[in-house]
Amino acid sequence: MSPWPGIVAYYREYLKIDRHAPAITLLEGNTPLIPAPRLAAEIAPGFELYLKYEGLNPTGSFKDRGMTAAITQAAHAGATVTMCASTGNTAAAAAAYSSRAGMRCIVLVPQGKVAAGKIAGALAYGAEVIAIRGSFDDALTMVREISSLRPIALVNSVNPYRLEGQKTAAFEICDALGRAPHWLCLPVGNAGNITAYWMGFKQYHAAGRSATLPHLLGAQAAGAAPLVLGHAVDNPETVATAIRIGRPARGEQALEAAEESGGRIIAVSDDEILAMWRRLAREGVFVEPASAAGLAGFAHEVRQGRMAPTGQTVVAILTGHGLKDPDAVTSRAGEMKVIPADVRALDELIR
Ligand code: F0G
Repeated sequence: MSPWPGIVAYYREYLKIDRHAPAITLLEGNTPLIPAPRLAAEIAPGFELYLKYEGLNPTGSFKDRGMTAAITQAAHAGATVTMCASTGNTAAAAAAYSSRAGMRCIVLVPQGKVAAGKIAGALAYGAEVIAIRGSFDDALTMVREISSLRPIALVNSVNPYRLEGQKTAAFEICDALGRAPHWLCLPVGNAGNITAYWMGFKQYHAAGRSATLPHLLGAQAAGAAPLVLGHAVDNPETVATAIRIGRPARGEQALEAAEESGGRIIAVSDDEILAMWRRLAREGVFVEPASAAGLAGFAHEVRQGRMAPTGQTVVAILTGHGLKDPDAVTSRAGEMKVIPADVRALDELIR
């Protein structure tokens, strides 16, 4: 068996990327689709549930798929500087792939609202990290403007190559299952990913690689749910900082994709997100809080009686690794027990 070459090389014939561009890759993609029958029996009886664990990408999130494509194209076009606004994961991915290509990378993040592991990643990979006194939405406005004035490659998901890369996750799911699942559920923030999945499923369907199309269920956090409310949210708030976004750049396309698929975008509370985040970890799958939102949304719809359990398959996209946000765990855990280095003390404690 030949080694996995990364998503650009593996799916090249399906991607609108310059044919001659040498791939800038960290061998991202090919993430596991983990069956979760026990979890299904608990939260969605009658459904066959799979977890697509995108946290296992090189920098710990699905953003690596979009970033290998965007940086491959940018490098081929001669770019030397990249920039993005980010709630953290895009920043880490942009930093890693830019460094891999020998490019300078500048990232803008909302001050105090980015999980520790993401900042650490962006810094370690060598990005210039700038915090702004404002939101992700403010940061995105700033980087869009400056990249129109200066020779800077913008690598947010307004960059079409990001979607080209991210749609490959839909291909992988169809390749693994032999067809699309009945339902695909995922978190929605800036709305690039749900848009990319729909592109991917439709393309694979048209190419005869999947006989069916899935229904899309997108989940926003209730405190940051512009696509559910029908208007922008000026001060979005949620424990799921990755999706703390009030003006999604691809909101219109996301709504169209959900509708065209016969699915929808719904809101889930922070409590629902955290409950699913804990439950996933008890399955052995540690994700960051935002990553649990999609499955929390599916469980919500099942509880409301809006999903008919007829042996259908559902794939939950788990977008980022739990180690991205260690504080989400430690801030909720009790004091760690400390004992003398003495086996009697241990016996006493665990008895
Ligand atoms: N899950 C995680 C872990 C994310 O980091 C993001 C987005 C999403 C879901 C939502 O994806 O924006 O395509 O709808 N994070 C971006 C960032 C905004 O800057 O890392 P989306």
